[in-house]
Formats: sequence, C-alpha cells, structure tokens
Amino acid sequence: MRILIAVVAIIALIWLLPLFLSVESGLKFGLPYRVFFSLIVIFVGFVFYLLRAPDMPSPKSAGRAVASVAIVFVASIGLIVLFANLAPQFAFESKGSAAGTPIESGKAIFNDPNAGCFLCHAVGGAGGTRGPDLSHVATVASKRRPAMSAEDYLKESLLNPSAYVVPTFDNIMPPIAQRLPPEKLNDLLTYLMTLK
Ligand code: HEC
Repeated sequence: MRILIAVVAIIALIWLLPLFLSVESGLKFGLPYRVFFSLIVIFVGFVFYLLRAPDMPSPKSAGRAVASVAIVFVASIGLIVLFANLAPQFAFESKGSAAGTPIESGKAIFNDPNAGCFLCHAVGGAGGTRGPDLSHVATVASKRRPAMSAEDYLKESLLNPSAYVVPTFDNIMPPIAQRLPPEKLNDLLTYLMTLK
C-alpha cells in the first residue's frame, strides 16, 4: 500500500512539476519524457512490491541471481538508449516553427537547447567556446575551402562536420543538423549566412 502511494505521488509530481517551470528557464519536460519517467517509476514500484512479497522465491543459485540482475540491467540500458535515439526527433518540433522569417527561425534553432549549437559556438560574444566563434562565419566560410562556396561549406559543416575540421579544434561536433527537416536546415543556413 505504501509503495502504491509513493508511486502515485511521484507520478503526480512528474506531471505537475512542469506547470511550475517557466518557459524562459529553457528546461523542457515534454510528454514523451513524462511518460518515460512515469513508466520507470511504475517499474521500480513493481520491483519493490515483488521484493516485499512474503512468498518471493529466492534464487536457486548464485548464477541465476547474477543472470537475472544482468537481464534487468541490459533491458534497462537498451530502453534508455532506444529512448535517447527517439527523443531528439520530436523535440525539434517545439521551437523554430513559431518564428516568422527564415532568419528568425534559423536563429531560434541555433539557440534551441535541443540543437545545442550555442553550447559550443559563440555569436556576438555569447555562447560556448568548444567550437569556433561563429560571429562572422559567413565571411570565414567563403575562404575555408577554395573550391567551395560559403553556402556549400556551411552545409557540409552542419551535415558532415568531420569532412573539414577547423585547425586547433577537435573533431567533436555532432552531425545533429542531419535530424532537422530540410526547411529547418535551410532556415539555419540562412541565419548563418547573415553572420558576416
Ligand atoms: C559539441 C560541440 C558542438 C556543437 C553542439 C555544435 N558544434 Fe559546430 N563545431 C564544433 C567544433 C569543435 C567545430 C570545429 C571543428 C570542425 O570543423 O568540425 C565546429 C565547426 C562548425 C562550423 C564551421 C566553422 C568554421 O569556422 O569553419 C559551423 C558552421 C558550425 N560548427 C555550426 C554549428 C551549428 C549550426 C550547430 C548546431 C546545429 C553546431 N555547430 C553544433 C563544435 C560543436
């Protein structure tokens, strides 16, 4: 009974908490996340319930005990990896579409925590330093590769960051823009091309 109360209370918290998070905080806790964490709470509650049942059969051998722990471990990791691969795709629909012009939309994508660009790149003094400063990236892009236009270079930088690695930086940029739908990718490129 106490387990049931705890499970219901934690799930209520998961669903109510986002109501108090301000949009400006940048924290997103969308439907898929809530469903996922609710399922985890139910699962953990169920495990606790099994553990407390008086007629819980103890494992017949140490080997079986280890095997059951291993199965639960692998299954949970598998679920988490599966979820992590699915989640970013629907997360992108949240922002960027509301913005008006392609430039505004592209800027919104750049500053969207799901895309993560600003975490590694600075524009106009604000942003991360793990990647090159992009304040004048459109000008820089036209000179990076002799045979390539600025547009083509930028597109390649987003879709295939390893194709040309900017000297003194590490090859750590994720090809995250591959997940953007084509019109969002174009908006992002349009925005980058304004950074002269
Ligand atoms: C984990 C950090 C990281 C993230 C996130 C990231 N980048 Fe990068 N980016 C880098 C690094 C490091 C480089 C330089 C190495 C290279 O060229 O791959 C780079 C290179 C670039 C370049 C080429 C710059 C030049 O001077 O030639 C562009 C353009 C760029 N990133 C845009 C973006 C955009 C847009 C996003 C968001 C969709 C993004 N990056 C996300 C780290 C990151």
